[in-house]
Amino acid sequence: MWRNTRVRDETTMSARDDEASRSTDHGERSQQGPLPDYYPSVAADIVRMCRPPDDGICVDLGAGEGPVALALAELCSARLVLVDPDPEPLSAARDRAQDDGHARRISTLCGRAEQLPLTDQSVDVVFSRGSVYFWENQARGVAEIYRVLRVGGQAMIGGGLGHDYPEWARREFVRRRHEGARSKGPEAYARFVYLRDPKTFASWARAAGLPRFEVVGEGGRPPEDPSAGLGIWLRFER
Ligand SMILES: C[S@@+](CC[C@H](N)C(=O)[O-])C[C@H]1O[C@@H](n2cnc3c(N)ncnc32)[C@H](O)[C@@H]1O
Repeated sequence: MWRNTRVRDETTMSARDDEASRSTDHGERSQQGPLPDYYPSVAADIVRMCRPPDDGICVDLGAGEGPVALALAELCSARLVLVDPDPEPLSAARDRAQDDGHARRISTLCGRAEQLPLTDQSVDVVFSRGSVYFWENQARGVAEIYRVLRVGGQAMIGGGLGHDYPEWARREFVRRRHEGARSKGPEAYARFVYLRDPKTFASWARAAGLPRFEVVGEGGRPPEDPSAGLGIWLRFER
């Protein structure tokens, strides 16, 4: 169906973890030192995998403050719709879009994956990074994404740091993320791993009734595993 891009990544344990790593990524000094921003490399993967049409509509699902969409706005000319249940980060995203000069083609909608505030077959691309782990019903969310995609539309749901993210930073990111997840106890760590297992992603896709899909990447492998840091994405086309 599409080129098998191995996305290098580690994904989120909780919104707070992600927030912490993001502020580090954006250059704030931490005890452990900052890591490079991964959003530009995630956006580059979206372009490679989903090929947003010039005049198309792309949805960033679980957008938060819109770091992925805003990075993507630098790489393509599609219109971007940011969807999140929380209005506060969406407001921050609108402010940033204004500052970055992208306000005219970025809009925001309050809503959840499980009940998307979008009409049938109305969008060209849906991408979602670091959010699927928080959905109450992933299969319902995946079915909703399929519903709103136009025929030929592309979806990319999961987590990753992007193909071009530097190897040294990927390794360090994985180490920190697993350290954080393990520190919450064995049950929480098992859940962290379960949510990033390709079999879990495939079960959501099957339960959603997708006719065809692909799961790319290895998910939350521990840092001592040689394949650690490969992201995980559910990819499908309508
Ligand atoms: C860790 S943040 C990721 C934000 C951004 N995509 C990124 O890559 O930095 C997870 C986001 O998912 C959102 N979220 C939680 N439950 C959701 C749901 N059911 N549907 C859509 N988004 C949801 C949260 O409000 C939060 O903004």
